[in-house]
Amino acid sequence: MNRIGVIGAGTMGSGIAQVAAQAGFEIILQDLSDALVQKGVEKIEKSLAKSVEKGRLISEEKERILRRIHITTKMEGLRDAEMIVEAVFEDLELKAGLFKQLDGLCSPETILASNTSTLSITRMAAGVARSGRFLGTHFFNPVPVMRLAEVIPGLQSSQETVEEGIEFIKRIKKVPIVAKDCPGFLVNRIVMPYAGEAMLAAQEGAASPTEIDEAMKAAGFPMGPLALNDMVGIDVGVHTFPPMHEGYGERFPVPVLFVKLLEAGRLGLKSGKGIYVNGLVDDEFLEIIKKIQSESGIRRTEFSADRLILRQVNEAVWCLQEKIASAEDIDRAMVLGTGFPVDEKGMGGPLHWADERGLDWVLDRLNHYKDSLGSRFWPHFLLKQYVAAGYLGKKVRKGFFEY
Ligand code: 3HC
Repeated sequence: MNRIGVIGAGTMGSGIAQVAAQAGFEIILQDLSDALVQKGVEKIEKSLAKSVEKGRLISEEKERILRRIHITTKMEGLRDAEMIVEAVFEDLELKAGLFKQLDGLCSPETILASNTSTLSITRMAAGVARSGRFLGTHFFNPVPVMRLAEVIPGLQSSQETVEEGIEFIKRIKKVPIVAKDCPGFLVNRIVMPYAGEAMLAAQEGAASPTEIDEAMKAAGFPMGPLALNDMVGIDVGVHTFPPMHEGYGERFPVPVLFVKLLEAGRLGLKSGKGIYVNGLVDDEFLEIIKKIQSESGIRRTEFSADRLILRQVNEAVWCLQEKIASAEDIDRAMVLGTGFPVDEKGMGGPLHWADERGLDWVLDRLNHYKDSLGSRFWPHFLLKQYVAAGYLGKKVRKGFFEY
């Protein structure tokens, strides 16, 4: 494979185009207008310039990388690509429509891939004749920095397509982890309860946004979950939480704070205003919070870093039980895709975190939050089984892992 098409020159599309061009692929970057594609190319230029500044790249190489990126506003421009990664807005109809068009346009051998956060790969594949040549490739923001890319086979994906997808991810110097097709796949399924719980804690006034983010940084996370929501985009949150709720019900409530921020035009870093404005909370944000509290009657709930991490742990146990990935891959994916803290031996991830604290303690804390905050904390049955078996984690040298 040499020619990769990327549809959508936004944050994710431009990141994917950049890393693939850096690995030597010829890129065709497509978006609806010249202005949008140019904006994407500017983002790539800026990111590469940062690398030149830091001495990681010489400027001649930067120019060579940029010359590999060809831009177009027409779908026809993607005709000769050998693989096309779509990274448009999270809208199933929109994505399905694009793939239908590509199906008629490209060689039947061309692999079609979706970089969706939460939507069903199997459903998208069902709309194209080449469903065996379709898969999910899910990247993490900021794409040039985060080392993981999930490979998600739909039910129809051929083994050959999955292998080519894995090979592509390796060639662009990312670590591929294969995850089953379910809403949120592996990493978003585990990180979204965490990011969502931070929003619930903020809207309930459990702690201030700064206190929440500082607590998580003190717990070892590379950035606070609210700053992360601003970086990923409040609009992305608004579009990714409903499919998770649809998939998993009450365990994935949609935090109303996302919706209220979007209504106020606060999209996060991309609009200069989200939860934070220049790293601080402003009066408009405080008004939004006050209104949510007066409408819900819920305020000043309990806050601790564990409240947020336990939601990741419980969802990781669901993923383990459903064989979305192995225990090793679950933890590795969370470290490489979100910077989940690791210990001095490089061990980390939600399942290791649970083993470290003791699964009996984890079960006890989940029960506590279930009683005080609701059923989204309901401990997974598998966790109860581990505790019943005496597999309590590191202290007995057997938990989710053996020590
Ligand atoms: N382009 C290129 N390089 C970049 C960059 C970018 N956009 N952003 C940061 N970098 C580089 C910096 O130059 C720096 O390089 P250096 O170490 O060689 O100097 C390095 O990355 C670290 O950056 P900073 O020093 O500016 O900042 P931090 O050390 O605080 O790291 C971070 C920033 C990498 C974003 C880190 O905070 C982090 O890992 N956060 C977690 C991000 C995360 O969870 N992402 C996943 C979100 S979920 C998702 O994307 C799924 C989707 O479906 C929604």
